[in-house]
Amino acid sequence: PAPGWTTSADAVVVGSGVAGLTAALELRTRVPRVLLVTKGSLSSGSTVWAQGGIAAALHPDDTPEAHLTDTLAAGGGLSEVDAVRVLVTEGPDRVRELVARGTTFDVGPDGGIALTREGGHRADRIAHAGGDATGAEISRALVAQIEAVRDDPGIEVVENALVLDVLTGAPDAGGRRPVAGVTLHVRGAGSRDGVGAALAPVVVLATGGIGQVFRSSTNPPGATGDGIAAALRAGADVADLEFVQFHPTVLWLGLGAKGQQPLISEAVRGEGALLLDVDGHRFMPGEHELAELAPRDVVAHAIVRQMAATSADHVLLDARHLGAAFLRERFPSITARLTAHGIDWTEEPVPVAPAQHYHSGGVVTDVRGRTSVPGLYAVGEVACTGVHGANRLASNSLLEGLVFAHRAAQDVARRWDAGELSRAPEPAARPGAPALVAAAARSRVQQATSDGAGPVRSAASLARAAAALARVRTDAHLAADVVAIPQTAEWETTNVHQVASALVHAAGLRTESRGGHFRTDFPGLDATWQRRVTVSLSDDGTL
Ligand code: SIN
Repeated sequence: PAPGWTTSADAVVVGSGVAGLTAALELRTRVPRVLLVTKGSLSSGSTVWAQGGIAAALHPDDTPEAHLTDTLAAGGGLSEVDAVRVLVTEGPDRVRELVARGTTFDVGPDGGIALTREGGHRADRIAHAGGDATGAEISRALVAQIEAVRDDPGIEVVENALVLDVLTGAPDAGGRRPVAGVTLHVRGAGSRDGVGAALAPVVVLATGGIGQVFRSSTNPPGATGDGIAAALRAGADVADLEFVQFHPTVLWLGLGAKGQQPLISEAVRGEGALLLDVDGHRFMPGEHELAELAPRDVVAHAIVRQMAATSADHVLLDARHLGAAFLRERFPSITARLTAHGIDWTEEPVPVAPAQHYHSGGVVTDVRGRTSVPGLYAVGEVACTGVHGANRLASNSLLEGLVFAHRAAQDVARRWDAGELSRAPEPAARPGAPALVAAAARSRVQQATSDGAGPVRSAASLARAAAALARVRTDAHLAADVVAIPQTAEWETTNVHQVASALVHAAGLRTESRGGHFRTDFPGLDATWQRRVTVSLSDDGTL
């Protein structure tokens, strides 16, 4: 729709998780006018839900090199080594800066940051806060910093603002369309109400994940893949979409459970909890030398196999031997959530099953956060920096957001200082945008993706998912149902559908099993697939 209002800025940051907040705070002191837009409130993204912690080689006996080794091992041969090196070497300083910004991590007996272990790590390197509320503490500290500068004319914050599209200008000599800003739909913010445009020569996407593309996920309701969908429509390259991380231990609430599900942090296994099948037998020691602390994809797939072998829809996480006092003190939020569901984990094992948790793929960037669209940056979960490869190592996500948001801000600042970013180009229409999808289609899309592209896939399941997604496009009821004046629900559902279609497409291309992508018809690793599947949307709207 045509924008009802227009504003301009030197840089627009979209999203307010750890990546967006970090980018906005750093850009504020480096470019004159920053616009920070976020879909809900400043603290409503995925970051606040992060439990386990943030990984960094902070212990005197640990090294960035060891962190690199573990990250590469989890990544199944697809991680970009240069990006991982940046992550692990710059990570410790970024975590220390978080402390300087007011984050209070839990401390150990020596007064230093307490460090624990999670799956795939061979050293204690996970810093945590509030026991199991790390993301909430990081978000609190960063939001407080934004609130403290809210009256500063150098930064404007717009909440309840859904990004609709990334605007681009006419193609340059190399055929690339530079970024020109974004269109937004803002709900109820005075002069910024309704559909508007924010023109800027730099847009930093920090929109988070895609959990709502699946029927159940640990992600909050706002994780609808808006950044990936908007970047695709703007012509950006996206990659590794098939690598979806299913967290092994999500509270099992029955077959009807939909939407955001309670996570039981990997840190619980880090502290010694065991996985049992429904008959009470431990099964992970036979699966991997690290047993319950194997990389996440290994544990999730072992659970799926165990569920099939026992004809059960869940397994059990047994933490009783850790002791009631320890569980309540170390994991207060999880204890409270389990109690709310009538489970006393000090007395009984917890039913758990894998559910969608994280997307390793996203908008392709270099180590400065630059995408293939000039002026468009992507940081955090929406990005594909290459650090995660086929499977993200536990607690590397907050770290990635922090490290690469800092790098993107530094790059923008350098370009600003060099005079490269003075004016946004005039927006020019780019063909290929898909028609809107009715909100009523959302559950059909989620069902199709979960059934066809869940933890276990095959050519047949992916073909069924692709057909179901195509039917959403041809079903007159779903097209006709789109209201004359679309609202958040229609735009989000369109994004969910677009990301689901691209993900299923990429998963169909990769005829092997690796990391978060497992196919029963190609169960082994295939060396010819030691490469990325990169997709983009052409001007005729095809992938
Ligand atoms: C968890 O606490 O298990 C989640 C941490 C992560 O996703 O890295």
